[in-house]
Amino acid sequence: MLQVHNNHELCAQIKVWKQQRKTIAFVPTMGNLHQGHLSLLHAAHDQADKLVSSIFVNPMQFGPNEDLSKYPRTLEQDCKALMEHGCDLVYLPSEKDLYPQALAHITAVQVPDVTRYYEGESRPGHLTGVSTIVLKLFNLVQPDLAVFGKKDYQQLQMIKKMVRDLNLTIDIIAADTIREKNGLAMSSRNQYLTQQQRQQSATLYQQLSHAAGQIRAGSSDFGQICQSAIEILTGQGFVVDYFDVCSRKNLQPPVNGEALVIICAARLGSTRLIDNIEV
Ligand code: PAJ
Repeated sequence: MLQVHNNHELCAQIKVWKQQRKTIAFVPTMGNLHQGHLSLLHAAHDQADKLVSSIFVNPMQFGPNEDLSKYPRTLEQDCKALMEHGCDLVYLPSEKDLYPQALAHITAVQVPDVTRYYEGESRPGHLTGVSTIVLKLFNLVQPDLAVFGKKDYQQLQMIKKMVRDLNLTIDIIAADTIREKNGLAMSSRNQYLTQQQRQQSATLYQQLSHAAGQIRAGSSDFGQICQSAIEILTGQGFVVDYFDVCSRKNLQPPVNGEALVIICAARLGSTRLIDNIEV
């Protein structure tokens, strides 16, 4: 597996592969890889000639009071896992490589509508930081396809919209969420949880599943369904940011007959967990 540390080296290698007419699959990450990330590599592996991944803790998508400095960094272990999962090249840029100027002076990509609620409201600037870095990475890697997890549902739908709106010729593949035994969606942030919080965390997916079950059984009082889930989660020690039913495609209020997703974010202590379930 090639390890490249700057965009010049990366572009030189991509140019060689393009000349050889190799197709490229891409899995961007922020590292600290777990089974969820590795399932994306698995989904990408047979879809193209070359598999490229990136590890970059993107400062542009962290708010001023978020966990940028303490975000877990496990580079050596990550590279080993990538190699074992068939990755051909990992891009490990420095901050200067991707942001030679201060962030305030960078051209940003803002994807409207789909980013209006949820993470868009709770973490101002976060989704713009994601769309901007993903477009930059797409331009450098020039992939034929890229894989994103449904775990970050709004991020996934935002990237799909960006690709459509900007006429990028990249297939976006959505991968299912990989969970711990107790149902908690795997996340690099789960390691911030105490033993007790880990046990409490199971309630989040239980409540998503329960709400999905009620909707599948024909209940259409989404307000009541979400309200009772919020009450149960609050009783279990969560501070709920949002728990809501919306349209899968654009994350807007549901319209009759549209495919739905239930989406939530909640804090346990200082750890913010996000999850969702398609109905
Ligand atoms: P990161 O949180 O490292 O996640 C990288 C990819 O792994 C994303 O597509 C995410 O949805 C997926 N993923 C995370 N946990 C998962 C799980 N339990 N099951 C399945 N897939 C999972 O998301 C980001 O990084 C960044 O925003 C990034 C897109 C790299 C831009 O900086």
